[in-house]
Parts: sequence; structure tokens; C-alpha cells
Amino acid sequence: MKLSAIFTFAFALAALAQAQTDFKSIKIDHGPYVQSLGPDSATIVWTTDSPAVSWVEIAPDDGSSFEEVDRPKFYEAPTGKKNCGSIHRIKVCGLKPATVYHYRVFSKKVLKESAEETYYGYTAATRVFNCTPPKFKTLDCGKESVTFSVVNDVHEKADRLKSMLGHVPKNIDFLLLNGDMVNNMRSRAEFFRSFLDVVADFSKGGTAVFSARGNHETRGVHSLAYLDYFPTSTGCTYYSFRMGPAYFVVMDSGEDKPDSDVEYYDRADFDAFRARQAAWLDGVVDSAEFKKAPVKILISHIPPSWERSHASKNLQKNFAPIINKAGFSLILSAHLHAHTYFPKNDVIEVPNLANSNTEMMNITADKDKIVVSFVDMDGKKTRADMVFDVKK
Ligand SMILES: [Fe+2]
Repeated sequence: MKLSAIFTFAFALAALAQAQTDFKSIKIDHGPYVQSLGPDSATIVWTTDSPAVSWVEIAPDDGSSFEEVDRPKFYEAPTGKKNCGSIHRIKVCGLKPATVYHYRVFSKKVLKESAEETYYGYTAATRVFNCTPPKFKTLDCGKESVTFSVVNDVHEKADRLKSMLGHVPKNIDFLLLNGDMVNNMRSRAEFFRSFLDVVADFSKGGTAVFSARGNHETRGVHSLAYLDYFPTSTGCTYYSFRMGPAYFVVMDSGEDKPDSDVEYYDRADFDAFRARQAAWLDGVVDSAEFKKAPVKILISHIPPSWERSHASKNLQKNFAPIINKAGFSLILSAHLHAHTYFPKNDVIEVPNLANSNTEMMNITADKDKIVVSFVDMDGKKTRADMVFDVKK
């Protein structure tokens, strides 16, 4: 055989081997990050570049190597059968409150599902050797104070978000994304590129992240997938949680204009959505867990106290009677792209603070007061602190 023929044959074999490897390989392309954190559970979210069966393993923060022992495994199997897909949302349960856990995610590529069998390729996993695995800390309801940071209206400016998150104080309990992180939900790839990759990187350090949907997250062909990326304890885009002395109610204020607006292309039904949500909120504020919390804070992307949008007026109609009787001390909003403060008034009897789109709020609450500080993307203070008395 001629030398050139031998080379050609060798190249063909190598190409075939590479093709077989590519065919079986799988990559974690976004995440992981932590959502829906509670005192005894957390949901880990990530995506892969091809369908897979996935699981999460967790380990205590005791200095041991992750690979030292077999770790508990958690799967996404709501019907008992393990899910197969390219977005993975795995709830880890049975955890201790106020406790740090390390985690590792695995995705085993599904090559083919026949009538009876499943055929697998390789398995991708996050690294644990010679590095610190990502971690989270379950919520601590017993703390005397809670500290958190708020960013909003990033509108796909990922660099600006990254700069701001670089100045998040070290000791915060969680980060709140208060809506309009994107202009439009066009695709998974753009959703991550425009802000969520930055948030996922931040989350690996162990800081919890909660999210309130803004009106721009309701727009675009990918918008119905919102809960895939931000699963909640209620299965809805509105939910609540307790951290330290504060009970947080995260509302979804919906779209800003009337449902009939031409911009919504006959896809909006937010008046009915807000009415259903009001019934849910009424149940929350009537619960024993809510009533016994010393501090109550409401989150709403669109300010309920604003006078100049259909959404605000509809929020007032549906929510004002519930908000006013509930004992909230503060409403945190966004949407206006300018620092705006609405003192309590006859319609909404709770102070409503809307953060600008160029500042991050750092907030500390204890049983007596809520202190709000403001910094810019360089971490410099932009204005005097605001202090709110806690409603007794
Ligand atoms: Fe908005």
C-alpha cells in the first residue's frame, strides 16, 4: 500500500472516531444556578446542548472531598419517571435550615428513546476535583435581621449588571432581580447571554437569588418558558418566602398597558391574571406564617402607587384593599428607570419605593426598621439612605 493511501486511511479512521465521540458527547452550556430556595429545599437549574437525564448530588460543607463518599442523588421525576430534556430543574429536599451545602450536577446524554429502551451517550458534570464546588445556604428564618440587594431594569446590559454584582456586599442573604432584566424573551440563548449567565456565575458563590417578573419578561416568543428558568414554590410567577424577621411577598404586576393594546398582538390577559393573583395574596396575608413575621415587604415590578399606567390602576383596584390591611412596611418597585418615592397615601397606605435602572439598593431590615442604601455600578453611594419604620 502506498504511503499516501495509508495516511488517507488513518485520517478516515480518526475522523470516524471523532464523529462517534461528538455523537455521544454532551455539554452543560448554561448554569447551574439556584432558585426557589427555602429553609429545607433548593432547586438547581442548568441547561445542556442536547437532551439528557440529569441529577444533582449534594455534600455538606464539612471540608470533605466531594468524591470521598457516595453522595445523595436527586432527580427530576415529577411523575415517577425521570425527565429527559435540555433544561434541568431539580429540587433538592430534606435539607436543614441555615445550612451550607455544596452541589454537583450531572447530565447523561440520551441518544435515542425507542418504544421500550433508552440509549445513552456520555455524562457531563460540573467539576469538583481541585476546585470548590458551587454552594448554597438554606434560608434562615431565625436571624434577627435580613440583608439583601436589589437590581432591576437591566434590559440586557449584561456588562452593567456584572459591574453592579461586583459591588454586592459580602454578607447579603439574597439578591433580588426586580424585573425587566431583558427587553424581550427571544430565545434561551439570548436570555442567558443578556443577563442570566452573569446571575448564574454570581449564584455559584452561594448567594441566593430571587426574581420578580417584569413586563418585558412577558414579551417575546420564549416568554412562556419563564418559569423554566425561575421555578418558584407556588409554580406561579408570584410567590412568597420568609428570611430572617421579614416575610417577602413577590407579586407579578404583569404588562403595563391595557390587554387590548396593539403592542400585545392579542396575547395579553393580565387583568384576569391580576385578579386571580389578588385571591392568592388574600390567602397569603391571612396565613399564620405571614401574620407572625415581624416585618412584611411587598415586591412589585410596576409600582402600585404610580398613577400613570393601566397596570398600576388595575393593581390598585385588585390589591389595595389587601395591601392596606396586611401590615406591609414597604413596597419595592422598579419599571420607571428613575429613583421615585411614593409616600403612603389614601389609595396605597404603604410607602412605595421604585429603584432607578442605574443603581443597586442594599437593604437591611430588622424588627424595628428597614434601611435602604443606594450605590451605582462602581459601588459609590448615590444618595442618602432611606429609613422606614416597621409597622407594628
Ligand atoms: Fe418595566
